[in-house]
Amino acid sequence: MSMKLPFFKKKKPEPKEQSEFDTIPKHVAIIMDGNGRWAKKRGLPRIAGHKEGMDVVRDVVKTAVSFHIEILTLYAFSTENWKRPDSEVDYLLRLPKEFLHIYLPELIENNVRIETIGELELLPDHTKEAVHYAKEKTKDNDGLLLNFALNYGSRFEIMEAIRRIVADIDDNQLKLDSLDEKTFAAYLYTNGLSDPDLLIRTSGEKRLSNFLLWQAAYSEFWFTDVLWPDFSEEMFKDALHDYQQRKRRYGGV
Ligand code: FPP
Repeated sequence: MSMKLPFFKKKKPEPKEQSEFDTIPKHVAIIMDGNGRWAKKRGLPRIAGHKEGMDVVRDVVKTAVSFHIEILTLYAFSTENWKRPDSEVDYLLRLPKEFLHIYLPELIENNVRIETIGELELLPDHTKEAVHYAKEKTKDNDGLLLNFALNYGSRFEIMEAIRRIVADIDDNQLKLDSLDEKTFAAYLYTNGLSDPDLLIRTSGEKRLSNFLLWQAAYSEFWFTDVLWPDFSEEMFKDALHDYQQRKRRYGGV
C-alpha cells in the first residue's frame, strides 16, 4: 500500500523509507516563468532574471534527486522564444552551456542523465556542442533524467510526428489500422518517457504555452504566483505534497 507524506505539512523532512516515496510523481515538468518580471522589479535587465533562474534550476534538480523523481522536464527555450530581441535569444541560448560548464561535474556525481526534447539542429553550434557533450558524458547514468526542452514546441512536435507517420505509411513501414495512441506517442520527442504526472508553472500564468500538449493530457497542474528566480525547495516540496493529495481518476470514477 502506498503511503502519503503528511509529515511534509509538519516539518518537511526527507522521506526515510522506500514506501514514503510511493506517491512521489515519477515525471515532473516545469514551465519556469517570470524571469523577466523578477528582473524588472529590481530595475535589472531581463537577462539578470534568466541568470538567477539558471541557479534555481540547479536547486530544483538537487531536490528532484533527493526525492527520487525519475524525470524532470524543464521548458528552457520554446519555438516561440525566437520572437524575443536578438540579445535575449542569444543570452538564453548561452545558458545551457554556462549551466553545464558550472554544474556538469555535480550532475555526474549525482548520477543524473541529461537529455533534450526539441529541434536541437536549429540551435547555435556552441549550444548543440555543450548539450551533446553533456548527453554523451551522462548517457550511462541511471538516476534522475534531466530533460531540457530546447527549441521545443508541442504543435511542431505533433505536426512532425504526423509527417513521419504518413511517410512510414507510404513506405509500408506502418499500417494505418495499427495506428493507436501508443504508436503515435512513439513518434514524439518524448518517445519512451512516461507522461508528466505533475506540471508546475510559476509566475501566476495558467496556460500550457505549447508545452507537452499531448503528454499533459492527464497531468496534475500546480500553479504559483512566485516568479521562477524566487522558486525555492520549500515550494517544490509544497507542490509535491499537493500532488500527493490529488485523486487521479483518468476519466474513471
Ligand atoms: C520565462 O520567463 C523563462 C524563459 C523563457 C527561459 C527559462 C530559462 C531559465 C529559467 C534559465 C535556465 C536555463 C537552463 C538551460 C539551465 P520570461 O522571460 O518569459 O519571464 P516574464 O514572463 O516575466 O517576462
